[in-house]
Amino acid sequence: MAFKKGLFKTSVGRKNLMAVTGLFIAFFLIIHLIGNLILVIPDSWFPIEFWGGVESAHDMYNAYSHFLVHFWPITLVAWILYISIIAHAIDALLITLNNNKAKGDKYQVTDNSTSTWYSRNMGVLGTVVGLFIFIHMAQFWLKYKVLGTEHDLYDLVVTTFKQWWVVLVYEIGIIALGFHLAHGVESAHRSLGAYPKGMMRVIKYIALCFSIVMAVLYAIIPIIIYFK
Ligand code: HEM
Repeated sequence: MAFKKGLFKTSVGRKNLMAVTGLFIAFFLIIHLIGNLILVIPDSWFPIEFWGGVESAHDMYNAYSHFLVHFWPITLVAWILYISIIAHAIDALLITLNNNKAKGDKYQVTDNSTSTWYSRNMGVLGTVVGLFIFIHMAQFWLKYKVLGTEHDLYDLVVTTFKQWWVVLVYEIGIIALGFHLAHGVESAHRSLGAYPKGMMRVIKYIALCFSIVMAVLYAIIPIIIYFK
């Protein structure tokens, strides 16, 4: 019990919670991206015989979304995701408050020469990503999954991305997400694993490549839809 209590009260415990929830969210982002890339499949690819002769991106995207809502194991995973996002945000706030308290008015010499600007601004980047997720969920998730006021998700997403300012908000959110992931994925492995020093350099490189691929692929979706 004492162990459990200490697990999330100590700074190591908090960092581990941050790492586990962060990596789970990163995993969700891969699946979410694959699903949303359906939106930009060119018309010329249809009908796709391999998927039962599906006739358009419209049909395919709505069938995929329908499946997500009506398959209970996915609903369970979605709840784990919501809890992870909230826990990640609260944990980040607690770690920041604790760090600020620890610094107090002590004289500190900070060496920034080996760290990146984005690793020093994870709080700001995380806040931008958090605001983005809030807007994003209000636009799609709330209307489709919670209120049920929208039934054609493809139409909803396409109409939403026909507004230039929405595309701009998404680009800003996704750029912040890319930088947040670049440091977050590396840092999560550092918190969780006892890797040899050489291995951390490889992980840093993989985290960077991962975040670039994710950010670029997410960023092109609203742009392609806007110009389609
Ligand atoms: C730009 C491309 C994106 C598109 C087209 C898109 C589309 C959607 C749609 C239509 C939904 C509601 C249906 C559903 O719940 O699956 C949704 C949910 C969601 N999106 Fe996105 N999304 C995009 C990017 C992102 C990004 C970058 C994030 C995170 C930073 C994100 C986080 C979420 C979350 C957390 C949910 C709720 C998931 C759930 O209830 O299962 N999305 N997205």
